[in-house]
Amino acid sequence: MKIVIANESHIKYAQVIADTISESAKVRGTGIAKRSPEYIVKRLVNGNAIIALDGDTFAGFCYIEVWGHQKFVANSGLIVHPDFRNQGLAKKIKKAIFELSREKFPDAKIFGITTGLAVMKMNYELGYKPVTFSELTDDPEFWKGCQTCKNFDILTRTEQKMCLCTGMLYDPAQEKSALQKKEVNSKAFKRLKSIKEQLFLKKKDS
Ligand SMILES: CC(C)(COP(=O)(O)OP(=O)(O)OC[C@H]1O[C@@H](n2cnc3c(N)ncnc32)[C@H](O)[C@@H]1OP(=O)(O)O)[C@@H](O)C(=O)NCCC(=O)NCCS
Repeated sequence: MKIVIANESHIKYAQVIADTISESAKVRGTGIAKRSPEYIVKRLVNGNAIIALDGDTFAGFCYIEVWGHQKFVANSGLIVHPDFRNQGLAKKIKKAIFELSREKFPDAKIFGITTGLAVMKMNYELGYKPVTFSELTDDPEFWKGCQTCKNFDILTRTEQKMCLCTGMLYDPAQEKSALQKKEVNSKAFKRLKSIKEQLFLKKKDS
């Protein structure tokens, strides 16, 4: 398995990446924004993405987005093809994109929003902490990226204060505490997610 910084030679994988994201969003039903192949191409060529390939076969992808004049960067769009899941690949991609973010944007706070326990675990191990959305970027373009998520109406209803996703932030100013082996409290996270679902999805249906 090769895990490398993406470049123009990887443009041919844009369609399979977009399709894999779209299929996963259908299967999981929540918390994944769709991305077009054109959108993916831009991320493949700007030096801010990681791609994993098994020979010539697409296995995984993740990209960096820069927000608020480089005050923040997000590690977004993490996807592992179903054929390569549960082998530790997402963890390797996450680590690679984290290291690339730290190298290229050493002063930026790194953040992500997720409904997934897997991502929450990986972020936690890298030194991210759960935060409210008010601590993340207020760049409207970032939040526009949520428009294709099926829960976007919740984000609108709460005036961008909360949604089913949990915000997580790595602050380089608190670097000392990072990269320590930490355990996310899975039970607490699942409980929080279930409370949010009851709260927001019930309102949505009524
Ligand atoms: C989430 C996803 C990226 C995980 O990829 P993966 O390569 O199977 O993950 P890994 O094998 O590296 O596992 C990393 C950790 O997450 C855990 N994990 C993986 N899938 C999980 C799941 N569905 N639920 C809970 N934990 C999970 C693993 O046990 C592992 O934890 P550990 O280090 O304590 O053993 C992959 O399932 C995927 O692409 N899903 C669809 C897209 C998606 O949800 N993206 C995230 C959007 S925020």
